[in-house]
Amino acid sequence: MLEITKSKYNKIENIINEIKKEVKPTPDELKVIAEYSNELVLRLRKIIPKDVEVLAVGSIAHNTQVRGSHDIDLFLLFPKHYGEQQMEKLGLEYARRIIKKNKNETYIVKYAEHPYTKLILNDLGMTADIVPAFKINDALERITAVDRSQLHNKFINNNLSEKQKDDVRVLKVFLKSHFIYGADAKTMGFSGYLCELLIYTYGSIINLFSHFYTLKIPVAIDPMHKMVYEEESAIKLLKKFNSEFVVVDPTDENRNVAAVVSKETFAKFIFSVRNFIDNPTANTFYSKKFSDVYTKRKVLKFSKELGLSIFVMHFEVPEIADDILWQQLRKLKEAITIKLKNNGFNPALTLENLFGKSGIIAFFINDITINHAIIEGPSIFMRSAVDSFIRSHNRSLGFIFNEEKIISIEESKYYNAKEVIDEFIKEIKLPSYLKHDKLNIYKDDIPEEIAKLVYSAFSLKTIL
Ligand code: CTP
Ligand code: MG
Repeated sequence: MLEITKSKYNKIENIINEIKKEVKPTPDELKVIAEYSNELVLRLRKIIPKDVEVLAVGSIAHNTQVRGSHDIDLFLLFPKHYGEQQMEKLGLEYARRIIKKNKNETYIVKYAEHPYTKLILNDLGMTADIVPAFKINDALERITAVDRSQLHNKFINNNLSEKQKDDVRVLKVFLKSHFIYGADAKTMGFSGYLCELLIYTYGSIINLFSHFYTLKIPVAIDPMHKMVYEEESAIKLLKKFNSEFVVVDPTDENRNVAAVVSKETFAKFIFSVRNFIDNPTANTFYSKKFSDVYTKRKVLKFSKELGLSIFVMHFEVPEIADDILWQQLRKLKEAITIKLKNNGFNPALTLENLFGKSGIIAFFINDITINHAIIEGPSIFMRSAVDSFIRSHNRSLGFIFNEEKIISIEESKYYNAKEVIDEFIKEIKLPSYLKHDKLNIYKDDIPEEIAKLVYSAFSLKTIL
């Protein structure tokens, strides 16, 4: 933990207090949200059976929402005798029935573990998720993952003070400004509930920041007992969840609330915290803002001055769940990166991005021509392995030794990065929604619309 001097502490506190004023919703705003939320609850109550309950959950119910973020989370809680399929089906049906077209409301069906409805309240610029779940009193009774939300309501409202809830808002905005807020597959960051649990465990945002300033992974946090385990004492929990960053859900000891946080996101958080604490200003808090033009210039400077080429694979993607597409794009990017590295081309930076019907994977690479490959074989003392190495490298132009290891020098299979990528695409079986015929590969000369996706991914990936 970082020891903060009194004068530094005061400085940080002043800035945080300023930011608190900026991020807390105004009373008018809260009134509009509450009125709308209540109206939707009433509309639902009119049509649902008596044994189904409507409950507001998430940041609206916890009083941890951020100014300008107007997402209402409403749950329809079904008793278990409904069965899962019936619960899902009725959940969608009830939500659809309360939509008022004359109030300019529309909806889309979204898919998480099970489908739910996103109501879009066009006139007010708000959305309301209407999610069906089972009514439970304890995590042991839960059937679907979202059943836990009703338990989270109780924990947060029973345990967080109003001051701490304001700190949650500040933490959310800090994470948003550094592009690491949200547990979706794109961000792989910190969810709202995780922010709430971190503030509860550390008591305040300043205390959280001063601990995270020096924190290392692996680490396991147990909010229920306000305990933070590092090194040996963390091993049991780290093993249990098979993760290096564990935050145990106080309402369910078998859930790691931080399961989706990637190492990269965690690292970005620590780095941003240090930057802010070292120099506590509104600028370091909010991070710099990127404009398209600024990022474009940075990308071009980055590639030109380093002599790198930019390869961009552009897919036309269907409108399926974003989370699945993000995972597929990342997997594909990693597989190509390995193939490039194995053939002597090491990308300086790789990116992926998704927007509307476009998915991209980009490689910044020193596009040299490589004429030869140096392939390391086994130790000379492994006789049969050496024999089979020699047999399989019949293209070799000469074998040499590097200490006791045999080395084959041969003509390279690929002369430049483009050949590696082309061959990879021919060989690989792509998922049906990333079709070959909807794929284009560009080098350096990239159409503006596609380049924009590269610039924005670049701004998310790079810090400072
Ligand atoms: N939830 C969760 N884990 C996630 C996402 C959501 O447990 N990865 C549950 C939590 O109970 C949370 C609720 O779903 O309170 C609503 O989630 P969401 O709207 O994503 O987050 P909020 O906490 O409402 O934060 P925000 O202000 O960003 O809406
Ligand atoms: Mg929410």
